[in-house]
Amino acid sequence: MKTSHPRIVPSVLSADFGNLVRDVQLIQRAGAKSVQIDVMDGHFVPNITVGPIVVEALRKQTSIFLDVHLMIEKPWKYIPEFANAGADLLTVHWEACPKPREVIRQIKKLGVKAGVAIRPKTSEKTLVPLLGEIDLALVMTVEPGFGGQAFMPKMLSKVRALRRLIQLRSYDCELQVDGGINAKTAPLAVEAGANSLVAGSAVYGATDPTEAFRSLQALVDLPVGVQVE
Ligand code: DX5
Repeated sequence: MKTSHPRIVPSVLSADFGNLVRDVQLIQRAGAKSVQIDVMDGHFVPNITVGPIVVEALRKQTSIFLDVHLMIEKPWKYIPEFANAGADLLTVHWEACPKPREVIRQIKKLGVKAGVAIRPKTSEKTLVPLLGEIDLALVMTVEPGFGGQAFMPKMLSKVRALRRLIQLRSYDCELQVDGGINAKTAPLAVEAGANSLVAGSAVYGATDPTEAFRSLQALVDLPVGVQVE
């Protein structure tokens, strides 16, 4: 069930962290409307990446929409810092929030869009009561923690179920997938109903990230079922 304007959201996880501003500005010039910053704390996921200070540094140097994916425990403790740093969207994990509604409201009260993500083992049913309150639902298509993993096709049934519900109740909620998105898997995700596709290694891992982004975006702009030779 294709939706309008599916968007590729490059993830900086596979960018050059020694030249992050350069890599974000490059992808904005390529036409990307947002980038995803993967925040990892070494507890919720077995990897450590960046904190609010990097979001702040990017905010000062770029105008692109900053989609910040918090793969951290007790995210509510850090929401104010990430909001002040300039995040445009803060996505927390349902598994890390005993009271997800409170965290969603905390984010929105700060004027930031709110997203909730689920790991592969978590059912999409957990998001159903929240869909009316969030700006984005993220179905992880890999186990969170690292880029370059293989896409998990089994997650597409969650995408289809959530798309049906968003459509049925006319929720204004983006449906995002993240993990293993490339030229092969992106059309599958769009066909299932995703309209935001996070791509790290397929974009920044390519020899020419600008070209990689543009061809991936062009692919998802095609009507469903049209094959590119
Ligand atoms: C996993 C990360 C990755 C990243 C995208 O925790 O969230 O999914 O954004 O990585 P690729 O596109 O390389 O699978």
